Amino acid sequence: MVTFVVTLMIVTTLSIRLFTEIKVRRTGRELTFDGRMGDYLANTLEEPNAIRELRIYNSTSYFTNLWAMIMKKQHNKRFSARKFEIKTGMVVAMVQTSAIFVVLVYLLNKMGESNTVTIGTISVLFLALLSSGGKIMSLTWPLSKLYISSSKLYDLNEVLTYKNRDFRKNNINNSTDSMLPITVSNVYFKYAKSNKNVLSNINMAIKPGEKIAIVGENGAGKSTLIKMLLGQYRPSSGTICWKDSPEPNGKVSVVFQNAVKFELTLRENIFLGDAHAPSDDAKILKVLEQCELIDLLHELGGLDVKLGQLVEGSRQLSGGQWQKLAIARALYNDAELIVFDEPTSAIDPNAEMEIYTKLLEICQDKAAIFISHRLGWAKNVDTIYVMSNGEIAEVGDHQDLVHHKGIYASMYALQSSWYK
Ligand SMILES: Nc1ncnc2c1ncn2[C@@H]1O[C@H](COP(=O)(O)OP(=O)(O)OP(=O)(O)O)[C@@H](O)[C@H]1O
Ligand SMILES: [Mg+2]
Repeated sequence: MVTFVVTLMIVTTLSIRLFTEIKVRRTGRELTFDGRMGDYLANTLEEPNAIRELRIYNSTSYFTNLWAMIMKKQHNKRFSARKFEIKTGMVVAMVQTSAIFVVLVYLLNKMGESNTVTIGTISVLFLALLSSGGKIMSLTWPLSKLYISSSKLYDLNEVLTYKNRDFRKNNINNSTDSMLPITVSNVYFKYAKSNKNVLSNINMAIKPGEKIAIVGENGAGKSTLIKMLLGQYRPSSGTICWKDSPEPNGKVSVVFQNAVKFELTLRENIFLGDAHAPSDDAKILKVLEQCELIDLLHELGGLDVKLGQLVEGSRQLSGGQWQKLAIARALYNDAELIVFDEPTSAIDPNAEMEIYTKLLEICQDKAAIFISHRLGWAKNVDTIYVMSNGEIAEVGDHQDLVHHKGIYASMYALQSSWYK
């Protein structure tokens, strides 16, 4: 009898545990794919370039929502797996406890027949009950797992309640106010923990529709100046006025030096330029065409193809294609100022010339700032600012600056000789 009950208990317990383990492992495998995507999105939200671009477009919430959705899905799957573990844990404990009681009753019965129930027997009964209690206590282990898993909710809550720490307003893209002209007066800027001014005595005005080129050697302060114009840093001294406001309050697009690679679909890579409005496929096709990416679209076979190398079936792009995509994303946003901070470094010089010339046409009714080390196209802009050591060394159009015979003229002469 005892052997039969103990064998039955062991077989039942092991079968239930094995079944539970298989089910939990299957859930774990499903969670790996969501987990990879969740990790990628979380890492992207920590990546300074990506966060900067998403904030400019005010699209951070699209990304955090996507991350939150995946985390919730993961949490629900984990929660139901844990619930299943708890239920099966209870069955196991009940089987074990019942088996012990059956054995005890059987033994006491046997002892009762021979009148051998003594204090010792009662102690055995007491210890057996304690042991059963221990088994019941084992019910709590799945509960502790549930507690650990629910701690992930705190992470989720932290990201969802994270406040935009820079001084741009959160509703920038909803604003219909113009932010031009931008007036920069006597601006000096140094990075935190640095004693040296990266920008000194900067004065400029950006008028509606004006096309501007900023040129200068590496480290001259071009990108820093752009970040100030976009409202990402405050001047150490001097003022920047976006029309009459001390804060930027209009729509602006930007393509930074290192194109952000969103490992999402082709459609999302464009739509993130203005994620507040519903996705507009006709507009997406228009900007893809403007950036000469229609061939790529046909090659991929549609807008829903995932880009990058994160998930099975996704397609990796070349550096130049990612850069063109970043430009298309910027054009998708109906901004009144669009900034191109050397987005063409991975694009060959001839294609860059074509793209910049074309961008000048596309941006006809917008103000645009172009930064590049290659000067061939700069003759077509209204104003060229030449930066050197954090200062504006020369200002004027191409003709003015060639006649001035300064930094721009010698850079231009040198580059012309390369291309001859
Ligand atoms: N986050 C930062 N913290 C401290 N110093 C910085 C930071 N970013 C840039 N700098 C420094 O500020 C100076 C100007 O940098 P910036 O990136 O504006 O130059 P740039 O003209 O855009 O150069 P490039 O042509 O290479 O893009 C450089 O000396 C650079 O080392
Ligand atoms: Mg730069």
